[in-house]
Amino acid sequence: MGVIDRYAELLPVSEKTPRITLGEGSTPLVHLKNISETLEIELWAKLEGCNPSGSFKDRGMVMAVAKALEDGAKALVCASTGNTSASAAAYAAAAGVPCYVLLPAGKVALGKLAQALMYGATVIAVNGNFDRALEMACEAAEEKGFAIVNSVNPYRLWGQRSGAFEICETLGSAPDWHAIPVGNAGNISAYWAGYKQYKELGKIDKLPRMMGFQAAGAAPLVTGEPCPNPETVATAIRIGNPVSANLAKEAVAQSGGAFNSVTDEEILAAQLMLSSKNGIFAEPASCAPLAGLLKLKKEGKLPKGIRVVMILTGNGLKDPDTAMSQVGRPVEIGDSLEELLEVMKA
Ligand code: F0G
Repeated sequence: MGVIDRYAELLPVSEKTPRITLGEGSTPLVHLKNISETLEIELWAKLEGCNPSGSFKDRGMVMAVAKALEDGAKALVCASTGNTSASAAAYAAAAGVPCYVLLPAGKVALGKLAQALMYGATVIAVNGNFDRALEMACEAAEEKGFAIVNSVNPYRLWGQRSGAFEICETLGSAPDWHAIPVGNAGNISAYWAGYKQYKELGKIDKLPRMMGFQAAGAAPLVTGEPCPNPETVATAIRIGNPVSANLAKEAVAQSGGAFNSVTDEEILAAQLMLSSKNGIFAEPASCAPLAGLLKLKKEGKLPKGIRVVMILTGNGLKDPDTAMSQVGRPVEIGDSLEELLEVMKA
């Protein structure tokens, strides 16, 4: 069951809303035993890379596209660092509506670009950063009367609340800390709204602290200033002027949480640890929270024994170039058994 059917009662849908789905949501929440021991906490990972287009974006996109179809939209438009465009293009393909995606030229991971093209969107590489591409997308959507499906579209955040609902259902409560990467700041805002909604409904009795993690080269919510030239290996969160900055600040302030930044080196080290020691391959941006938890532990700022859920927002397969730059190459041999046995030292 997809997000709309599963949570119809909690979302702004009516009988007129088309019940579209690609099977998004209901992603695994996995207890990470090894890292829990290292960090002396109880750490869980929500594997959002298991969504149909490989990122959390599908939860909100299914809602945004359903509402756009309900309103008779002629086409969809978005700007993206990669995942939103992959998701929009996928749902547009399934719904049979044209989709225009604006990407910062040369700054989108290969897998995401391949997805948008394969799903048949019109892909436009803008020689500017994401923040500018988003302004252009909003203006063009207005001009043409097309549906904008970035998180300025409120239905995106509604759908993304479903991640919080699932966590509460699986754990029976909210975690102590909710650790999440922050780029355009929609997801942290959506999770906070989702937890609050569940508390108001009496389904949970406490709220988590919202802990947002940004890349040091693109950390406007940590510095408190927009960042005119964002730069990071975690291209998904290479954003200098987040659209939902105010909502995100509110989430952090109301929950007693915090924003922290981590360097590219820390992000890549966390990515490698997660894959090589725990069997989970997440894209660089998704690993900012783990990098941050490791850093807070080192600084003595991670309380012992707390339950933490981190959101692994996107699949590692989306960015093969960054992964390959971190690891060795295959051991190449001829076709003799001797050579093979030589390699098998274990
Ligand atoms: N992680 C991944 C893998 C993302 O793709 C994004 C955002 C984020 C985290 C941050 O989420 O923007 O809600 O704070 N990607 C957008 C995109 C900007 O265009 O795909 P956020």
